Amino acid sequence: MAKQPRILTGQVAAITGGARGIGRAMAEAFLREGMRVAIGDVDAAAALQTAEQLGRGTVAFELDVTRRASVQQFADSVEEALGPIDVFVNNAGIMPVGRFVDEDDASAHRQVDINIHGVIYGCKVALAKMLPRNRGHIVNVASQAGKFGVPGIATYVATKHAVVGLSEALRAELRNMDATIDVSVVMPNIVGTELGSGLGQSRAAKILTPEEVAEATLEALKLGRFDVWVPRSAQTISTVTGVFPRRVREGIGRALKADRVIWDADMTARKNYELRAARSEPGLEPGGQEQLPEKTAS
Ligand code: NAI
Repeated sequence: MAKQPRILTGQVAAITGGARGIGRAMAEAFLREGMRVAIGDVDAAAALQTAEQLGRGTVAFELDVTRRASVQQFADSVEEALGPIDVFVNNAGIMPVGRFVDEDDASAHRQVDINIHGVIYGCKVALAKMLPRNRGHIVNVASQAGKFGVPGIATYVATKHAVVGLSEALRAELRNMDATIDVSVVMPNIVGTELGSGLGQSRAAKILTPEEVAEATLEALKLGRFDVWVPRSAQTISTVTGVFPRRVREGIGRALKADRVIWDADMTARKNYELRAARSEPGLEPGGQEQLPEKTAS
């Protein structure tokens, strides 16, 4: 018998990185579903403006996902304003493009801090609220870069593989704990947001709209789906090509031009995004005061 979709009306959703792009589209989709929405973003002005534009009681807060205290403050403020959080979306992320050998260490730290630690903090803070209620749904926005190695974004690929692995392990832990809290991992192909500006297109998939990712996420909330491939066909391609040896798989990827999509990015078109991404962790801006963590000699 087909699963009855869950009714989401009245549920409270908190979305990190919700000022623009995919997070904003999710906020819009959730509001249409009758949910109450809070967005948090390091770009506080943009978050406030987005909340105002979205209306329907949307609230916005300043949030830096690289600081646990900030994530805690965000979740507390959301509950104070809207009530217990039902859905927590770890969406904030950055994707600087370039050859790995040219990447500066600050950029690698920023990606790990935002894309991995931000998600870890989000999961822990959300679970501390959801576990006593034994209710809730955590959505982690990874990427198809969490399943495949894509040239031009090696560190980003590493962070998104981490998000997929974390989500799988968390789902299994919650099951062992008999907790009825859902986890979903969203894995979109390239999406036409500022983060995706100047990128090419493979022969296998068109560039997605943020709304398509939001609709797939909404469906996952209704059906309690863990794997959220966007588009769905990417799962079939992954399963089918997965049976071939690595060299054949890589040959298929090259034939589909999947290896050039980011490698051949138009860096002029990406200039504004790259500058914004480099300023996404307060204290770790280019030329900022904060030192990178040094490994102490043992
Ligand atoms: P975007 O750049 O349009 O939006 C990301 C938002 O996150 C921005 O508003 C930004 O200010 C915020 N943010 C950055 N650092 C933050 C921090 N330290 N604390 C709080 N907020 C912070 O990017 P987009 O495309 O909407 O991406 C959203 C998520 O989707 C990211 O995790 C990204 O890796 C993932 N994704 C994006 C794809 C794409 O092609 N656009 C494809 C697959 C996954």
